[in-house]
Amino acid sequence: MIPISKPFITDAEKNAVLEVLDSGMLAQGSRVADLETRFAQVCGTKHAVATSSGTTALHLALMAHGIGPGDEVITVSFTFIASVNSILYVGAEPIFVDIEEDTFNMDPALITDAITDRTKAIMPVHLYGQPCDIAAIMEVARQHNLTIIEDAAQAVGAKYDGKPVGSFGTGVFSLYATKNIMSGEGGMITTDDDEIAEYCRLVRNHGMKRRYYHEMLGYNFRMTDLHAAIAVAQIERLEEMTTKRRENAAYLQEMLKSVVTPVVRPNVDPVWHQFTVRLDGNRDREAAVKQLNEAGIGTGVYYPVPAHQQEYIRIIVGDVSLPVTERIAEEVLSLPVHPQLSQADLELIVREVNKL
Ligand SMILES: Cc1ncc(COP(=O)(O)O)c(C=O)c1O
Repeated sequence: MIPISKPFITDAEKNAVLEVLDSGMLAQGSRVADLETRFAQVCGTKHAVATSSGTTALHLALMAHGIGPGDEVITVSFTFIASVNSILYVGAEPIFVDIEEDTFNMDPALITDAITDRTKAIMPVHLYGQPCDIAAIMEVARQHNLTIIEDAAQAVGAKYDGKPVGSFGTGVFSLYATKNIMSGEGGMITTDDDEIAEYCRLVRNHGMKRRYYHEMLGYNFRMTDLHAAIAVAQIERLEEMTTKRRENAAYLQEMLKSVVTPVVRPNVDPVWHQFTVRLDGNRDREAAVKQLNEAGIGTGVYYPVPAHQQEYIRIIVGDVSLPVTERIAEEVLSLPVHPQLSQADLELIVREVNKL
């Protein structure tokens, strides 16, 4: 079976982990600091702060901006649940806006109507590694004096107008095992703001600057050097792996005829965390998945149930209607695009998908 994703692990990752094990210093230390420096370079930001996961990074970023009970955060429902959960963790309320039909990302035209006097932030998501229309979103944020927290969990290295995602607002990334670069579990916050970075560093480590003197209530959101060592080895190959994803995506774009292939705006450089097609009309997605799986092709549906339709969230936000999100959630299907695909794999994917 061609897997939908596959961690790209080489001797570099294995040796890096062994070195940390041999050093006896496993907790947050020099490897984490090294990773943070490299990550900030990739994003073109002054700071990068590593955390234990993308979810803890989102949680921390919201706290750093002082978002809490009584506040509203505008986001999308068509995302991984962590985007929304993090808003709930801080006691704020997620306000959902619909997505653009072609890019699956937040529709900037809908934001203004969702703003109230309780709105504090906008959290757009760069879904599947494709930048959302961040310039248009920033313009609305500027007019209403709102913070932007970019959920760039899936989009490390992606660019909008030539500028890396995660450098427009406060950026949040995931290094979970299936991500374009990974550490098993891990997250990152990127910012140019010294105070936000300082807050995140403090609160990820129990509010501790001097050993056992705690300046405020904090958490254990630290990344270990073991995890960071893996990610450092990965970040060294980020460009190479992204290029391969782009080549694979270009091939699939050109060769697939039976499905709606992804639309890429001219001013963005996506990194193809997922290659997501649409089975338009009334085609049976379950049958398509079965057919492809039987032919040896792994697939993914990200995400079959949008956040606003998850029962525990519906109880909080009530009945919300997001027609584009709801339709797209029924039509999307992700195909393998990862850098370890061979030409034979790509040809099999094209042949089988074109039979659908
Ligand atoms: C869009 C999005 N946001 C947040 C997260 C959370 O990251 P993590 O799984 O590292 O906690 C993910 C990870 O899958 C994601 O895809």
